Amino acid sequence: MQTPSSPRTKPAARRAAAAEAAPSQDMIRLANVWKRYEHGRFVLQTIDLQVGRGEFVFITGPSGAGKTTLLSLLYGAEIADRGQVFIAGRNITRLRRKELSHLRRGIGVVFQDFKLLPRRTVFENIAFCQRAIGVSAREARRRVYAVLKLVSLAEKRDLYPRFLSGGEQQRVAIARALVNRPPLLIADEPTGNLDPEMANEVMDVFKEVNRLATTVVVATHDRSVIEYVGSRTVRLEFGQIMKVGA
Ligand SMILES: Nc1ncnc2c1ncn2[C@@H]1O[C@H](COP(=O)(O)OP(=O)(O)OP(=O)(O)O)[C@@H](O)[C@H]1O
Ligand SMILES: [Mg+2]
Repeated sequence: MQTPSSPRTKPAARRAAAAEAAPSQDMIRLANVWKRYEHGRFVLQTIDLQVGRGEFVFITGPSGAGKTTLLSLLYGAEIADRGQVFIAGRNITRLRRKELSHLRRGIGVVFQDFKLLPRRTVFENIAFCQRAIGVSAREARRRVYAVLKLVSLAEKRDLYPRFLSGGEQQRVAIARALVNRPPLLIADEPTGNLDPEMANEVMDVFKEVNRLATTVVVATHDRSVIEYVGSRTVRLEFGQIMKVGA
């Protein structure tokens, strides 16, 4: 009898079997992951990490430790050289391009430098990405209003980004990342350009999003935001996980 991993099994069937074999109670599972860039040294080594559905986890560690690289493996911007990366039970190291782009729709990403379109209003910045995936104009409008309410910016919807504070701009970027209701939100140094008060405003949004059942992973070296939220922290040093705990 043919086993799921037999070389004669069709690739699609093998992928389905691999996906089924993964535990789906985890939103994220990395198993012995290694990553390097173009002939360089390994910038991530022996990474084992599990993040449950609905968890809020910080990735911290000094500059160059590998935080951004780790996040980029989670949303498929980079592919691990060794080991496995499971997102919502799917092994993303084995997905085809089309399957990967589908999976990425379920992941919201927020960066340090907001990346808002300067000539678009707050509303347009958030509505923008929905056309590409075929959401009707009416549904898009409804979703934009809902996320604007979530980040407490409903009354600023017609302003251009330059008329907003840094904290408000970052909240727009978070709203944009959330508008397609992804079950996973990933943020890379989301408070890096913000003063402490604005940083806490942004963290309040992440906390609320997490309370509404979204899994949240935030890379930061800002101790004060980690203390403010008080959730699990994973520390990277020289590409390896040093300590997992609260
Ligand atoms: N695209 C790339 N090509 C080559 N090397 C890279 C690339 N991106 C990152 N690196 C290297 O990988 C290592 C880890 O970088 P990474 O950006 O993941 O660290 P980080 O923890 O996010 O740092 P920071 O806190 O400064 O953002 C560094 O040595 C960096 O120089
Ligand atoms: Mg980084």
